[in-house]
Formats: sequence, structure tokens, C-alpha cells
Amino acid sequence: MKIAIVGSGYVGLVTGTCFSDLGNEVICADSDNDKVELLKRGGVPIYEPGLAELISKNVKSGRLSFTTDIRKAVALSEVVFICVGTPPKEDGSADLTGIEKVSKDIAEHVDSYKLIVEKSTVPVETGEWVRRTIGKFSKSGSEFEIASNPEFLREGSAISDFINPDRVVIGVESKRAEKLLKEIYEPLNTNIVVTNIKGAEIIKHASNSFLATKISFINALSNICERTGADIEQVAEGIGYDSRINKHFLKAGIGFGGSCFPKDLKAFIHISQNLGYDFGLLKEVERINEEQKALAVEKIRRMLWNISEKVIGVWGLAFKPNTDDIRSAPALEIIERLLDEGARVRAYDPVAMDNSKKQLTSGKNIEFCSDIYDAAENADCIVVMTEWNEFKEVDWDRVKDAMTQPVLLDGRNMYDPVKLREMGFTYEGIGRGRGEPVLSL
Ligand code: UDX
Repeated sequence: MKIAIVGSGYVGLVTGTCFSDLGNEVICADSDNDKVELLKRGGVPIYEPGLAELISKNVKSGRLSFTTDIRKAVALSEVVFICVGTPPKEDGSADLTGIEKVSKDIAEHVDSYKLIVEKSTVPVETGEWVRRTIGKFSKSGSEFEIASNPEFLREGSAISDFINPDRVVIGVESKRAEKLLKEIYEPLNTNIVVTNIKGAEIIKHASNSFLATKISFINALSNICERTGADIEQVAEGIGYDSRINKHFLKAGIGFGGSCFPKDLKAFIHISQNLGYDFGLLKEVERINEEQKALAVEKIRRMLWNISEKVIGVWGLAFKPNTDDIRSAPALEIIERLLDEGARVRAYDPVAMDNSKKQLTSGKNIEFCSDIYDAAENADCIVVMTEWNEFKEVDWDRVKDAMTQPVLLDGRNMYDPVKLREMGFTYEGIGRGRGEPVLSL
């Protein structure tokens, strides 16, 4: 199949590359000349495990190419995926000007039947707007159809999520569109849920909102565990074995971040409002997430007495492991609060340092370090913000020696509280009770 991807950001690049790997002929278009030039030279503008290798393999095979010329991409393809960004506006609603712009661009170049598929996360009814816009600006009057095919890719594991999806959702309005999309996804041998366009748009909102709700639920529960002396890790295990609940997305921590959950949640609250329904549940999910970050700062204060003048070592900046993405990263928000209170921060992240430097440097009391031990140097407290694999094995004697006082806030519950307390650390996790060892006979 000949496929055009319009918008070669995170979603577009991963999707286009994976489609080409399935044997399709894919042309990825983007208006950013620098990005396209970089891709043509074999560079990759984002960090995603396995992506660089997969791009290189498919470029070499001739199935994947890049262009700034949307006209060429559309003209050469039967199916066109819209993958441009939909950033949040001040009021929380999604900014759809990018979608409108590419709809007009596509309209100008529709010269034979095309299936235009929205993949970007968009408010329900965007499909209708795309149809109207293309219809209005199309010069040839050629036949086209709209479909929705939301993505469920997680950063850091996007390629394996693409190859082994739990399901593929396609929102279509004709058998022809259904057949085309099913043909593209057939090699994945997965469940394909077919709905109308609005149904597919809502499935995307609902999936992300539900997952965010699970996280806020477990985070709220972690506060109850802390107050009662229970351990959230055990409680999560206990409820997670119930297949109706399941164990996924029950990891308590300093809150969710990233380019999707915070933005999509806001957008869905806004959409519901516009539809005349107050989705109060989701507002609470958002509030709990904000509170979780504030509570982390309160814990640091409780352990250190005053934050001002204290040296805080930060392990992890990315919003989650295996990505250099710092958009809405809890780490950065917490660091900003600590700096505002007069702390000195020593931060380390395996891949998100360059991005963080751009956002955090000017005039700020922050130093970027070479590893976790460097970040622990003279620290009054270490805060674990991201659960990177490489943070799992730690030489705690070395850390303790480096620190001014052995104080640790384990924001992702990576470590054994009993062991660390026995070593003399003042340890706090998220919802980890009062630290009594589990009794055994
Ligand atoms: C998410 C969705 O999972 C994906 O399907 C969608 O298409 C895009 O948004 P992503 O943002 O890459 O993917 O990350 P995800 O793994 O879902 O984590 C989001 C945030 O939730 C991270 O900050 C993570 O640390 C946090 N999280 C996740 C928790 O705090 N606890 C959990 O149990 C799971």
C-alpha cells in the first residue's frame, strides 16, 4: 500500500516507520525543513529505543522516504495519515490549527480517491471538520473519505506497542475505508475494533482518561496507606490480581506527566463541558495529580526542616524512563518549586539532560551531573523522580559517603525501605507506610 504520513513528529515518525517495516511504501512529510534534512541524512530528531535502526533499515530498502513537499506525499499515496500536533491552548482545549492547515494542503492535492485518516489525538467531531475543509478546498472534486485511527503508543516502547498492540481501533464510514485500513493492519494479527468516526475519537479520549484515573486512584490510595501504616506496593499487588482491575497502571508515584495524559485529560474535560456535561471525575483526577507533586515537596520539607540553602540531588528528569521527553514531567515541576524555595539542585538523567538544560538553566541554581553519584555529592536529600533501569543497582555506601546527610525521597518506590533505613537513611517513598518490616515466621 502507498501511504503518506503528514507530520513527522513522535507519532508520525514511529507510525510511518512501522508501516514501512510491514512492507508498505511510506512517504513522511513535514513542514520543518531542518527535521526533514536531518532524517534524510540518517539522523533521528527524537529518542525512542530501536527507532533509528528501523528507520535506517527501511530507508535502505527504499520503502521509507522523507519530504517537505506535502503535495508529492499526497499525490503518491492512497491513504494519508494526519499526525500533526494538537497542543493545548490556555483554556485546556486542543489547538487544531495544525490539523486545519494540513487539511487545506491535502485538499489542494487530492487528485484521485484518497482515504484521509486522523491519527493525532483530536476532539470528537474533528473528523467532521476535516471532511468539510477538504471538501471546501478540494480543486479536483475527486472522491475522498475520512477515517479515524487513534494511536496508543507509549513513549519508550512505541515500536513494540505498534507491533504488538492490544487492539487497533478504526472509525470509518464505508466498507471501502474499512477494507483499506484492515489491509494495512492485517499483518499485526490483532483485535480490530470497527466503529464510526466519533466512536473512535471517543475511544482515544476514554483510554487515556481511564488510565490517568487509575494512576490518580492509586496515588490517592497511597496517601491512605501512608497515614495507616500500610504499604501501597502490597496493596496494589493485592488489588491488581483481580482480573477485573488488573495490575497495570497501579504504580504509585509523584504523578503522571508526558505529552499525552495531562493534555488529553484537560481536552476531554473541556470537550465534555462544551457538550453540556460536567465530567467532575476527571477534574478530580487532575487535582490529585497536582496534589501529588505538591506532597513530594512537603515530604522533602518534613525530612529537611527547611528547603532553602539545601542541596537536593535529583535522579531522573524525563517524565518516565526510556525517553528524553520532559513535557509536563513531574521532575521539572518539583525542581522549579525547590529552586523557588532557595534550594540548590544537582540533577542527573541518562538521556533527558539536554532537553532539561534548555528549560531549566538561565539564572537557576541547578547543576547537571555526570551520574547518580555525582548528583549525590554534598546533597542533603536525594529525590528519585524517574525509575530508570540504571538506577536499580546502587552502591548505597558510596551514595551515603557522598551526601551531607543520608535522606532519600523515593518518588517511584524503587528501593527497599527496610534495607535503606537499616543503613541509616531517612527514607520516604510514596505510600510506603511507616516502614515496619513485613512480619514473617
Ligand atoms: C500514554 C498512553 O499510555 C498511550 O497509550 C497514549 O497513546 C499516549 O499516552 P505515554 O505518555 O508515552 O503513553 O506514557 P505512559 O507509559 O502511559 O505513562 C504516562 C505517565 O504516567 C508517566 O508519567 C508515568 O510515569 C505515569 N505512570 C504510569 C504512573 O505514574 N503510574 C503508572 O502505573 C503508570
